[in-house]
Amino acid sequence: MVALSGSHTIGQAQCITFRDRIYNNSSDIDAGFASTRKRRCPTNARDGDANLVPLDLVTPNSFDNNYFKNLIQRKGLLESD
Ligand code: HEM
Repeated sequence: MVALSGSHTIGQAQCITFRDRIYNNSSDIDAGFASTRKRRCPTNARDGDANLVPLDLVTPNSFDNNYFKNLIQRKGLLESD
């Protein structure tokens, strides 16, 4: 599961898939990273739902281990339970 999740080191996600996480004050997310992502993902549901941002903020087009490095810095975009 952990290894497969690392494939989110490339590609993009739509605003609708991460809006809850970046606007939830109790989520474990870096505040600066959240505010950067809010710029492409407005608060209101349906507003910009399909706006795309990179899953890996450091090297969005490389298949590397930055997905995991970003998580340690609390800069993961997708929610997990
Ligand atoms: C529990 C399993 C998984 C969940 C919940 C999940 C969730 C997501 C979500 C929410 C997105 C953004 C999609 C969008 O906004 O339209 C995404 C994108 C992506 N996922 Fe996953 N994913 C899972 C497993 C995997 C696995 C196993 C792989 C590959 C081995 C993978 C590779 C990717 C890639 C490459 C993208 C970017 C797609 C693109 O840019 O077009 N995911 N995933």
